[in-house]
Amino acid sequence: MSTEIKHETWSSRWIFILAATGSAVGLGNIWRFPYVTGENGGGAFVLVYLLCVLLVGLPVMICEVMLGKHGRASPINAMKNLAIGAKLSEKWGMVGLLGIVAGFLILSFYSVIAGWSLAYTFYFVTGTMETMGPQSAEAFFNKLTESATSMLVWHSIFLVITCYMVGRGLKRGLEMAVKSLMPILFLMLFGLVCYSAVVGNFGDAIVYLFRPNFSALTGESILIALGQAFFSLSLGMGSLMIYGAYLPKQTPIIRTSAMIGIADTLVALSAGLAIFPIVFAYGLEAGQGPGLVFVTLTVAFGAMPFGQILGTLFFVLLSIAAWTSAISLLEPIVAWMLEGGRLTRVKATVIGGAGAWLLGVFSLLSFNIWGDITIFSKNFFEISEFLSTSIMLPLGGLLIVLFSGWRLKSDTALEWLGIEAKEWKLRAKVLILLVKVVAPLGVAAVLVNSSGLDRIGLKIFSLIF
Ligand code: PFF
Repeated sequence: MSTEIKHETWSSRWIFILAATGSAVGLGNIWRFPYVTGENGGGAFVLVYLLCVLLVGLPVMICEVMLGKHGRASPINAMKNLAIGAKLSEKWGMVGLLGIVAGFLILSFYSVIAGWSLAYTFYFVTGTMETMGPQSAEAFFNKLTESATSMLVWHSIFLVITCYMVGRGLKRGLEMAVKSLMPILFLMLFGLVCYSAVVGNFGDAIVYLFRPNFSALTGESILIALGQAFFSLSLGMGSLMIYGAYLPKQTPIIRTSAMIGIADTLVALSAGLAIFPIVFAYGLEAGQGPGLVFVTLTVAFGAMPFGQILGTLFFVLLSIAAWTSAISLLEPIVAWMLEGGRLTRVKATVIGGAGAWLLGVFSLLSFNIWGDITIFSKNFFEISEFLSTSIMLPLGGLLIVLFSGWRLKSDTALEWLGIEAKEWKLRAKVLILLVKVVAPLGVAAVLVNSSGLDRIGLKIFSLIF
């Protein structure tokens, strides 16, 4: 396989920050963060989440961007090249392969959920969403997920627009998308938070999000917070590695990664501040799970003044966030196919997109026609989600920090990060501690917990003793 192909470079460091923030900010922040916070008791969960971002998420992100920047290729070839350069086994390329497969799987079901968001945008624009009580909003949501045809249409539209941007290449596609979409997204979110502050019950939302009630916190919720940080920051699967590969040479990695982490966290908190005031003002259930934005907010938008406009705004926001993340899920596999030297970018994008589309069709059918087909009581959608986000992402992240912390020489890694040997003594030490010890232990804990290995282990333990 030739890895000699020269990839394009981001026009500037700021564009990279926008693109990486676009990757990080997605359904994970706006759809998932508020409902997992709701399910896990609010403030204490948010506090643990922030710690997870700082102590585990950021070190993994720094390593991933660093490996991309110095590998200067798709995750598979970047890892392979770096391993060869450090006189290690070429098999480290498998870390990249794992990431590419994970991204592909995530894209397939991510597009199905993003399709719901497109569908809701359409229904709000066309005025289908009139005043609805909780029951009719739920029935409406169920009707969408029960219709294989509707879901197929929205899933296909979402993937086509994703492929369109990726197919146009780095400067004409990815950069253009993030340059125009990210400012719109920030503005819309800001507008929604202001609106919620005026119309909703902002005080209760602040207390709910920021006053920690530690009695609601369980060991399980700590691991959920860590898993959420991982998914939300787009770690462990090569999106940030390939974005790092397009970085201009002089970019400071630590500061840049910190900015992405901060932006992603601010967006997640703002999504909470946009959603919870409305939930509380309308007496809705904060801990109701994945239906929170689709069911609950539909009720709220239906009942409030200018609800149709605001509902449209909200779902456009969610769709944009999902779109810029989906682009980053497709890019690693496209870059890898390009490095094979036989395909044009457009062809590679079509192949990648078509594969994700097909897998996505299996996922969307598991909400209706194939709902009963399960393995270990999980349908296809649940299997894809579980395998990719609960196993592959943490495993990929673990291998990335182990490679950076234990296989690369510390001097080399510090040099790659732009840290001079004499300079920044304390900062370098803290970083080394986080990368070598704290992050691997944290990620390993998530992996063991979310894969169910802990329960299997306990069973074996209790059988033996
Ligand atoms: N970070 C995205 C979100 O919060 O929705 C999801 C995601 C994108 C995960 C890209 C992983 C990834 F590589």
